[in-house]
Amino acid sequence: MESKLKHVAIIMDGNGRWATQRCRPRYYGHQKGAENILTISQELNNRGVKYLTLYAFSTENWTRPQREVDYLIKELPFIIYNRFKSHLEKKNMRFFVSGRTEGIPHKTLDLLRELEETSKDNEGLEVVFAYNYGGKAEMLDAFNKAIASNIKTIDEDVLRSNFYAPHVPDVDLLIRPGGEKRLSNFLLWQTAYSEIYFSDIYWPDFNEDE
Ligand code: FPP
Repeated sequence: MESKLKHVAIIMDGNGRWATQRCRPRYYGHQKGAENILTISQELNNRGVKYLTLYAFSTENWTRPQREVDYLIKELPFIIYNRFKSHLEKKNMRFFVSGRTEGIPHKTLDLLRELEETSKDNEGLEVVFAYNYGGKAEMLDAFNKAIASNIKTIDEDVLRSNFYAPHVPDVDLLIRPGGEKRLSNFLLWQTAYSEIYFSDIYWPDFNEDE
């Protein structure tokens, strides 16, 4: 089935509050949130959506308590890797990492790159992990890359070709669960014409019906 929506992007918000409501530590909410990626990606793949970009770790998330940051950049990637490897294979989906690599441990990058490499020939939904990602950082990095290549004028095509995921089209639908109504520095250029859906439901509970 081909969908009218080519690219859906999600700000996976509310994991911490979801866990706190259940008297559990915040990392438990992130783990449940990570599991929900399997459900939602499968649903979008079934509907013929081509790209799903997920805000997995933002350039602003470094200011969180060190234990939480460590969980998000050292532990959760292993869980993602173990759960995703067969999921991508079974569902014929691709994986792609987008964002700054500085500060991300080598072991984590290796795991994510391996998911990318082993799934690159699959033809279904591409799951793009915005990891150490910020919309402002992406634009600045793209400008600087273009300048470094000695280009005289930077137009939209040049800028776009220097983005972290240049092959991914603009966002058709941006979804933000968790009750907040803002963009939080996510895909600032690519959401210029997006429709936006806000939901009060926390990300771990955001299901197919939503
Ligand atoms: C925002 O919820 C969510 C995040 C900062 C992380 C989301 C990440 C995942 C679901 C898994 C992604 C995988 C990796 C490898 C990082 P919040 O903590 O801001 O929730 P709150 O607003 O309720 O506190």
